Amino acid sequence: MSNIVVERNGAIEKLTINRPDKLNALNKATIQELGACVKAAEADSSVKVIIITGSGDKAFVAGADISEFYQFSKEEAKALAKGGQDQLFDVVENCKTPVIAAINGFALGGGLELAMSCHIRVASENARMGLPEVSLGVIPGYGGTQRLAQLAGKGKAMELIFTAGMINAGEALQVGLVNYVVSQEELLTKCNEIATKIVKNSSVAIASAISAVNAGYTDGVNGYEKEIEAFANCFGSEDFKEGTSAFLEKRKANFPGK
Ligand code: COA
Repeated sequence: MSNIVVERNGAIEKLTINRPDKLNALNKATIQELGACVKAAEADSSVKVIIITGSGDKAFVAGADISEFYQFSKEEAKALAKGGQDQLFDVVENCKTPVIAAINGFALGGGLELAMSCHIRVASENARMGLPEVSLGVIPGYGGTQRLAQLAGKGKAMELIFTAGMINAGEALQVGLVNYVVSQEELLTKCNEIATKIVKNSSVAIASAISAVNAGYTDGVNGYEKEIEAFANCFGSEDFKEGTSAFLEKRKANFPGK
């Protein structure tokens, strides 16, 4: 059985992590498969939005698969964290196609780190989020110490990491960790609603916006300069010609995505 279920609905591709018996815990194979699915969707110009969710109604992802790494040496641990970041977490964050996390339950450890790599997060009311790694004698290794501080602020990140605690969906909304909280029944509807709005816009411009926003969080890169460069590049696109012409001609734009 594949660890990822891929489903298409028009321009929206849904990737469902499919290890419900293990609360969708991320083992090595799942990390590789999900990373490959995201890359394939990014390379397919007909996919305009990717939604990542977990199977079942209990968990998005309950973390990295503890059974796989509990006997690792320091060197193996380094390779695990680096491999995961390279194969999945950085791939998601830098994906040119917007990625929405539909957090349908527990998002713990690597699960929350995956959700935080996504560009937009929507949680169901039953979701519980946290980085419990210090309760296992380790720290987050898939970008959690960085991205939680970026999203929720340094103080809240420190508290959540030190206490190994879980916050509920309402608290996550309050600290800016998720964009929306809806009932579990409405979760995918809400994600599709956001995706449908995105699909109407220029995918070239959206890809540029992703790279410009991310630049501000990248060491040694000046986000303002990246924005100027990305802004200017848009002027060479067919999407820009179509978008501006459509406005002046008082009609809806039909972006070619080039
Ligand atoms: N790695 C590996 N297996 C995991 C897992 C993980 N991160 N999270 C859950 N599972 C497995 C359990 O071992 C169990 O498998 P089993 O039925 O073969 O014994 C199955 O998923 C169901 O989990 P269980 O603990 O029985 O469910 P629960 O409802 O009692 O508790 C959680 C749910 C999420 C609170 C609990 O599973 C948990 O604390 N998981 C680990 C969270 C964590 O520390 N993540 C960070 C990892 S770095």
